[in-house]
Amino acid sequence: MIVKRADKAGFCFGVKRALDMAERTVETSSAVSFGPLIHNQQVVQRLEKQGIRVVNGLEEAKADQALIIRSHGVAPRVYEEAEKEGIKVVDATCPFVQKAQHLAAESAQKGHQVIVVGDKLHPEVQGILGWAGVQAIPIQTVEEARELPAYSNLAVLAQTTQLAASFAEIVEELKQHAEHLTVHDTICNATAERQKAARELAGIVDIMVVVGGRNSANTRKLASICAESTKTYLIETAEELEADWFSEAKTAGLTAGASTPDWIIEEVFKKMSEINEDGMDMASWDVGFQE
Ligand code: F3S
Repeated sequence: MIVKRADKAGFCFGVKRALDMAERTVETSSAVSFGPLIHNQQVVQRLEKQGIRVVNGLEEAKADQALIIRSHGVAPRVYEEAEKEGIKVVDATCPFVQKAQHLAAESAQKGHQVIVVGDKLHPEVQGILGWAGVQAIPIQTVEEARELPAYSNLAVLAQTTQLAASFAEIVEELKQHAEHLTVHDTICNATAERQKAARELAGIVDIMVVVGGRNSANTRKLASICAESTKTYLIETAEELEADWFSEAKTAGLTAGASTPDWIIEEVFKKMSEINEDGMDMASWDVGFQE
C-alpha cells in the first residue's frame, strides 16, 4: 500500500504561536488558560503537567496568575473584567481572529448589521459577536440566511475555519437581504490550504486518516471533506488505528487538524509502520509533516 501525506497538515501558525506564548509564560510565572488552550486533549494534558491549569471563568483565576487568552480570542468584556480584578492577560489571540474581531467592531460602529457565519456555540464566534455588540447575528446555513429580513447595510464575516464554498453560498443569499452588503472574507488561509490539500488527496486514495481532536471544528471539517471522496477515519491518537481498515486499500492518505501536534502525527506514523510490519503491504510512508 502506498501512503501519501497532505502537503499542508497539523499545527497552524496561530496555534503554534499560542502554545509558544503559553510555554514561555509558565517559565516565569504561574499561569491559567481561559478555556483549553487548543482543541486537543493530549496537548491540554501535557500543558497541565507543565503547570498551566484550565479555568472557565475569571473568578477561577488569581491576581498573581497570568491569564492566557487562547487563539480563538474572547469578547472585550473579558479584558475589561481582568483589568478590574488586576489579572495580567497574556493575549494569544490569533492575529487573524483579531482582524475579524476588529472588522466586526468597526462594522457595528458604522451602524451596519453584522452577520457572523459560523458555529454560534464556538468560542471564536462568541468572541467576535462580543466585539460586534448585541445586535450581531450568528448564522450557519443558507436557510438561516433566507429567514433574515431586509437591511439597508449588512456586513458579513466568517468564522476563520468556515468552508469557503458554504460561506460563498451564504453571501449570495445575503445579497437578497441588503441594499449594501460588505463582505469580509475572514476565512483563514491555513484552513483553506489544509482543506484543499485534504480534498485533493482524498480524491486519489482508497482511505483517509484524519488525526485531530474530535471536539476540534477544523479537524471535523477536514474529515467531512475527505468523506465526500473516500472512506475516512478520524482518530485522536495512534492507539485508535485498526489494521482492518487498511485490508483492502492500495493507497492511503494522512492529514491532521490545525491543533494536532507533530508528536501525535509521528506516533500515528509509527503505529502505521507497526501494522505494516505485522503483515500488511505498506510500501512507502512519507513522513515530515509541514506547517
Ligand atoms: Fe489562526 Fe488560522 Fe490557525 S485563524 S488559529 S492561523 S486556523
